[in-house]
Amino acid sequence: MSYKNQNVLTRTFGKEVHQGLTAFPKYLSSKFFYDAIGDKLFQQIMALPEYYLTDVEYDIFNTHKTDIVKGFDKEKEGFDILELGAGDGKKTKLLLAELLEKKYSFVYRPIDISENAISHLVRNLSSELSGVSVKGEIGEYFEVLDRLNHISKKRKVIFFLGSNIGNLQHPKAIEFLKKLNSVMHQDDILFIGFDQKKHPQKVLDAYNDKTGITEAFNKNVLTRINKELNGNFDLDTFIHWEVYDPETGTAKSYLVSTKKQTVDIDCLSLQIHFEPWESIHTEISQKYDDNTVNWLAEESGFKITGSFTDKDQYYKNYVFKK
Ligand code: AVJ
Repeated sequence: MSYKNQNVLTRTFGKEVHQGLTAFPKYLSSKFFYDAIGDKLFQQIMALPEYYLTDVEYDIFNTHKTDIVKGFDKEKEGFDILELGAGDGKKTKLLLAELLEKKYSFVYRPIDISENAISHLVRNLSSELSGVSVKGEIGEYFEVLDRLNHISKKRKVIFFLGSNIGNLQHPKAIEFLKKLNSVMHQDDILFIGFDQKKHPQKVLDAYNDKTGITEAFNKNVLTRINKELNGNFDLDTFIHWEVYDPETGTAKSYLVSTKKQTVDIDCLSLQIHFEPWESIHTEISQKYDDNTVNWLAEESGFKITGSFTDKDQYYKNYVFKK
């Protein structure tokens, strides 16, 4: 990334950190978990036995791949797959392999803000699934979607997997889905994963692993403040705390200060005071049921034309159309 872009990013990071830590109650956005270290920690989270989401979505794809891809393009006319926030592509590869085997005509376009993530994925795919035509797109989701609308007339199937939508509170999720709706054409498809409500202990365990990887992931936002904004957070004086409200389906992550303390953030000329046991809210991971997903779809102008789930109904992928 260029220095200029890096400065812009540091400035928005700084501005939001300033806003969140001077608010009451304190908060920081979970989007700041993901730098090179955060990406690695999230990879480790996906491999945790407690973190069922990745495995279950993988199983759903494996079990239903034939029906899933049939729904993308019955007439085999050709289409583009645009994946928002592609990650390592392990689950997506399953569907791409199925499409390849059944001789669908398509271009896979993973979209990510991280050039690093995209180049890894493209290299990995061209060695493992050499028949797939891959075109990595670097940028913000909507900037890329707009651009693609101008250069490609092909039908779009948009992937938004991993229950990534769950980081957004309902009003924000609706805003996001409405925006997606507005760049989609009549026959385009949004293929989207929603983690489902289930035994509250199962949810809590997924965000509370014994090995402390989720804790390190959560604390990575403080590490970033220390590194990028010249802060002096003492990570050992904060604990990771997870709660799950079965009524709303919201899992929330906090960092809780174990003592009264003051933290300096030099680049922001800021001192932050913590009372003993004061919290910073850092993430929500929303869990859904059909009623809630129906409501979100309706509010944002979509109809649900299909869905795929696992035997325990832990997780569900939905087909959204305009
Ligand atoms: C990538 C947003 C789906 O909320 O389940 C994992 C991120 N946070 N463990 C989630 C996450 C803590 C994850 N998403």
